[in-house]
Amino acid sequence: MSTILIIGGYGYTGKLLAKHLLAQTDYDVIIAGRNAERAQTFADELNSPRAKATRADAADPASLRPALQNADLCLVAAPVTSLNPETVIRTCIEAEVDYLDIQYSFTKLNILNSHAGEIKQKNLCFVTEAGYHPGLPSALIRYAASKMDCIESAKTAGYLNMGGGLPYTEAVDELMEGFKDYQAQVFKNGAWTKSSSWDMQKFDFGPELGTRTCYSMFFEELRGLPEMYPTLKETGFYISGSNWFTDAIITPIAFIGLKVAPRRSIRPLGRLLWWGMMNLSRPPYRVALKVQAKGQLNGRQVEIQARCEHEDGYELTAIPVVAFLMQYNKVRRPGLHLMGHLAEPVQLFKDMERMGVQMMTIFE
Ligand SMILES: NC(=O)c1ccc[n+]([C@@H]2O[C@H](COP(=O)([O-])OP(=O)(O)OC[C@H]3O[C@@H](n4cnc5c(N)ncnc54)[C@H](OP(=O)(O)O)[C@@H]3O)[C@@H](O)[C@H]2O)c1
Repeated sequence: MSTILIIGGYGYTGKLLAKHLLAQTDYDVIIAGRNAERAQTFADELNSPRAKATRADAADPASLRPALQNADLCLVAAPVTSLNPETVIRTCIEAEVDYLDIQYSFTKLNILNSHAGEIKQKNLCFVTEAGYHPGLPSALIRYAASKMDCIESAKTAGYLNMGGGLPYTEAVDELMEGFKDYQAQVFKNGAWTKSSSWDMQKFDFGPELGTRTCYSMFFEELRGLPEMYPTLKETGFYISGSNWFTDAIITPIAFIGLKVAPRRSIRPLGRLLWWGMMNLSRPPYRVALKVQAKGQLNGRQVEIQARCEHEDGYELTAIPVVAFLMQYNKVRRPGLHLMGHLAEPVQLFKDMERMGVQMMTIFE
C-alpha cells in the first residue's frame, strides 16, 4: 500500500491525520473534501511532494470514483454517517480500495456487516471504529491482557473535556445521529446487561484530573472481548460527565428530544449540548482513556492500570489511527475488522507515545 485518500482531509481530525502520516510513514496522501480549493490550500501548506489534493464528495459516487483511482486506502475522516455511509462503502468495494473509518455509528456498522462477505471475497481490508472512542477501548484492554497470563476484569473509562472555542460542525450532527442508537450495556458477572440499562461508576484519572463519575457507553469493539478472553467476567466502557448542568439537565433533554423528534431535533439539541460542553466546562482541558484490569500473572492476582492522554482531543483521535496505519502492512488481513481488534496493542501504544500521547502503566 502506498497512497491514502483522506476524505475530510482538511477538517480538524483530517489535518492531523495528514501531518502525522507524512511525518511517520512513507505513504503519499491525497487531501479530499467537497471544496477543491480548501483541499489544495491545505495540501500546499503541508509542503511535501507526497501530498496532493482532489475534490471528492463522499455522498456522490461520481465524484468519489476518480478520487479513488489513485488510492490504495480510503480513510474516511468526514461526518458521512449523517448522510449515507453506504455510498462511500459501496464505492470503495467497487473500486477495490481498502477502507478505514473513524465514526461512531451503529447504522454504518450494519451496512458494513451486510457487505462483509464481498469485502473478504475481493481480498479487501475494511477497518471500522478507528480513533480514540471508538478505537482505543478494546486496544487498551488487549494491551492490559498482554501483560497478564489471564485477564478477569477490564473496565475502561474516558475523560473528555476539550475546552471552549470549538465551532459547531456537521461532526456534532453526526454525534447526535449516533446518540439515537445509544446503547449502554456492560459485561458483568459473565453476562451482558440490557442495552437500555445504565451503569454509573467512579474512576480515578490521576492527580490532575481527579476522580470522576462516569456513565456506561457501548461500542461494538467491546462485544467480542469475552469470546477473545474466556476468563474475562467484567468489561465495559464508561464516559466521564462534562459539567453538572450539561450532565444533569442538557443531556437528558437531548436524549428525550432525540426520541420524540429524531430528525428535527438533531441540530437544535446538538447546538444546545455543544454550547454546554464548550461554555460550562472548566479546566483541566484534556482527553484521556484508562483501563483498570485484574487478572493472574505467575500464579498471583495482579492489577494493571494503564492510561493514555493528550491535551488535544483531535490529536488523540488522529494519533492512534496513524499508529495503526504504521503497522497496517503487517497486520492487514482480508475482511471487515475493528481497529482495536486488528492492531498489535503494545506497538500501537509505543508508537502513540512517540507521537506525543502521554502513557502511564501501573502494576500492583
Ligand atoms: N473515533 C473517534 O475517536 C473520533 C473522535 C472525533 C471525531 N471523530 C469523527 O471524525 C470525523 C471528523 O470529525 P471532525 O471534527 O474532524 O470534523 P470537521 O472538522 O467538521 O471536518 C470534516 C471534514 O469533512 C469534510 N466533509 C464533510 N462532508 C463531506 C462529504 N460529504 N464528502 C467529503 N468531505 C466531506 C469537510 O469539508 P467540506 O465540508 O468542505 O466537504 C471537512 O473537511 C467525524 O466523522 C467524527 O465523528 C471520531
